Formats: sequence, structure tokens, C-alpha cells
Amino acid sequence: MYKTIKELTETAEKLNMTIGAFNMHNLEMLPDMIRAAKEMGSPIIIQTSIDTAKYIGYNVIVAVVKEMANSMLVDVALHLDHARDFDAIKDAIEAGYSSIMFDGSNLPFKENIEKTRLVVEYAHAKGVSVEGELGTIGGTEEGISVNEEDKEYTRPADAVTFVRETGVDALAVGIGTNHGQFKSKTNVKIPLLKEIHEAVPTPLVIHGGTGVKEEDYPQLINNGIRKFNVGTELLVNWTQEAKDAFGATEVNKSLRHNIIPANQKVKEIVKHKIGLFMNTGEPTNLG
Ligand code: 13P
Repeated sequence: MYKTIKELTETAEKLNMTIGAFNMHNLEMLPDMIRAAKEMGSPIIIQTSIDTAKYIGYNVIVAVVKEMANSMLVDVALHLDHARDFDAIKDAIEAGYSSIMFDGSNLPFKENIEKTRLVVEYAHAKGVSVEGELGTIGGTEEGISVNEEDKEYTRPADAVTFVRETGVDALAVGIGTNHGQFKSKTNVKIPLLKEIHEAVPTPLVIHGGTGVKEEDYPQLINNGIRKFNVGTELLVNWTQEAKDAFGATEVNKSLRHNIIPANQKVKEIVKHKIGLFMNTGEPTNLG
């Protein structure tokens, strides 16, 4: 069924698991992402950047996600990732996204609180969940270099004030992760996460999941991570599979020969991650 991240993270809290929030990069990969969740018997969060939503169309994405969630009986939330622009947030909510992230992490603390609070008021009035962000998440290996000195970690005392004043449904924390880190792995600050988790009751969110070591997942989940974002790993693998297939296929062959292997790769990865996110102590194998 079509759900909000508030509903899904409540389930995750009860089961001491986390919900995979996977960035879709094109419409092609979307059905297999939801099929992966169905096969694993888990809820899933599908998230899009504003640019992906504009490229495909907010309404088109909502229509496909709702149709699949309802007809396949899978719990799916559709989330707008890293929005700083109120117009984009309104567009997503009007189209039917069930949750949105307002990312005010680049703003001074009080301004982040103020703007996030306004977004929460607007979204909650329409039954939509809101994720906020406090602290910074580092940059990429391929673009801006991952720079430890530039990072601002989330301070537990600030987190207490932030969630109390804004009423967010989920909080993205800066604990050492980086967006787009796919060649190396980061060292997450588990003791800091533990402190934040003890200080606030709100479900916590990991960004930059591609760069997190899988052996760290249990500790992250056991310390309150209820939404776990993975994007780059899907992008890189879809692209690589598609490149290989396009390179080996005659131009008059159906596009299915090139696209299906790429979608299948994404499905395998989503299933593998969900297996770990269920936090049963028994990792599933790829494939
Ligand atoms: P990665 O692309 O590094 O996995 O991060 C995803 C993310 O956090 C989206 O906001």
C-alpha cells in the first residue's frame, strides 16, 4: 500500500530494522526496485531528486509507484530527496508524493529550524511526512573531494532543539558519511550516533549509504537508523550494465536487450541491501 515515511519508520522501529530508501535515476529501473521489495517481503522507500522528478514528471512517478504499491500489496513511500526549494516541495506534494525532505543543512541553525518548521506545517496539513537535516554530509569522490575538515557533525544537543522546534518525522544526521562515495568506504561515528539516538526519539536517517561498510549496518540500525539512503551504487551499476550491453548489441535489436540486464542488476542490489536492512543477523547473498 502507499505509505508515508512516518508510517514505514514506525514499523521499522517496532522490528528494529531500517527501511531502504533507494534513489531511482530513471523510470526503467523503478518497477524492479519495487519487485525487489515484494520478493523480500519488506517495505521500501523510493526517492527522487528534484531533477529526476522534473525529467520524468512528478505525476508519472506517483502514478507508477501508487499502482505498483496497491496492485502488488507492497508498502511503498515516495519521497522527494534534498529539496531546498519550496516550489519543488509544493509540486511534489500536489502530485501526491507521500513524503519530502527539506534540506536546510546549509543554513544557520536558527534559519534551518524556522524554514523546516514552515515546511512541516505545510506538509503535515496535507498528510505528508517531512525529513529534516542537521549537520553536513560530505561530498563525492568523483566531484568535490571527501574532506573531513569541512564536515560539520550533528551535535546531540542541537538535535534535541531541532526536532522539538520543527516537529520533523525523520532526521538526517551528519556522522561521517559522504554522498556519492563508491570507490572507498567511510568510517561512521557510531558513538556519536548513539548519543544522538539517546537524546532524540525521532527516526534517524543515513545519507550516503553507498559509502557505508556493510559490516557497520547492524550497529547503525541498533542505534536508531530507520531510513537508509542508497543511490550511487544503483546508478553506477545500472550504467555499467547498460554500457556493457549497449556495447555488445546491434543497433536494430530491441532496447530490452540493453535495459533488462541493467534493471536486473539494480534489483539484485536492492534485494541484497534489504536483506541486510532487515537486521536479522543473517545476511542474504547477492542474486
Ligand atoms: P549515495 O548516493 O552516496 O548512496 O547517497 C544517497 C543519498 O543519501 C541520497 O540522499
